[in-house]
Amino acid sequence: MQKTTLLYTGKAKSVYETADPDRLILVFRDDTSAFDGKKVEQLARKGRVNNRFNAFIMQKLAEAGIPTHFEQLLTPDEVVVKRLKMIPVECVVRNFAAGSLCRRLGIDEGRALTPPTFELFYKDDALGDPMVNESLSVTLGWATEAQLAEMKQLTYRVNDILKGLFDQGGMMLVDFKLEFGLFGDQVVLGDEFSPDGCRLWDKETRKKLDKDRFRQGLGGVVEAYEEVSQRLGVDLSGI
Ligand code: TMP
Ligand code: ASP
Repeated sequence: MQKTTLLYTGKAKSVYETADPDRLILVFRDDTSAFDGKKVEQLARKGRVNNRFNAFIMQKLAEAGIPTHFEQLLTPDEVVVKRLKMIPVECVVRNFAAGSLCRRLGIDEGRALTPPTFELFYKDDALGDPMVNESLSVTLGWATEAQLAEMKQLTYRVNDILKGLFDQGGMMLVDFKLEFGLFGDQVVLGDEFSPDGCRLWDKETRKKLDKDRFRQGLGGVVEAYEEVSQRLGVDLSGI
C-alpha cells in the first residue's frame, strides 16, 4: 500500500489517502508540540518510537475487544489504518490528578481520583481545546447521545485494560486522551495512543515518563518513551 494525496497535517502526524477509499496511511513525525501548538520541537526518533508503541497498544486493545482503526505497520514511521469520519471530541479519563485538572480546580498533583473521572474536550487548537459536555456535543452536531455513550464506555474499558498493562511494567496510568470516529455506523478508536497523549509515572519514584517531560522542559523525552516501551516489551528493533 502506498500514500497518494496528503489529506491533513496534524501536530505530530500526517495523514495520506491511499488507492483504497477505506484506508489511510498515518506518518508519525518527530514534531513534538504542547500548549495547543505554541511549543514545537523536533525530537529525533520520536515518530518511530510512537509508531511502534501505538501499534503495540492498539493490538492489545483489539485483542481485548476494543474496535480500533489499526490495520498494520507499514514502515518504521508509517501505519495503515481504517478511514474514519472523526468525531471532534477528545475523551479524557483521569486516575490521578495532573495537568489541567490541577490548574482548574486547585487540586494537588498526584491525588488519587476514585472513581476515575471522564471529561470531554472540543478538538480545536485555536480555541485551546475547551472543555465541553455531552449536551453541547449533541446540540452542536458532533455526535449523537448513543455515540457519546459508546465513546465513554469504550474509554473506561481502555482504562481498565491499560491500567493493568502499565502496572505490570511498574507504571501508573495517570490520565490519557482518546479520539474516536465512525467506520460506517460503528464507533471505532482512532488517532493514536502514545506517551504524547497520556501521563505515565514510575510507580515507586513517580518519575514522569510522558510528554510532561517536554511540556515542563525536563529533558530525556524520547529516552523516557523508549523506557516505557522497553518496560512493556514493545519491539523497537530496526528503527
Ligand atoms: P490535560 O491535563 O491537559 O487536560 O490532559 C489530560 C490528558 O489528556 C493528558 O494525558 C494529555 C491528554 N491530552 C492530549 O493529549 N491532547 C489534548 O488535546 C488534551 C485536551 C489532552
Ligand atoms: N492540546 C494540547 C496540545 O496539543 C495537549 C498538549 O499539551 O499536549 O498542545
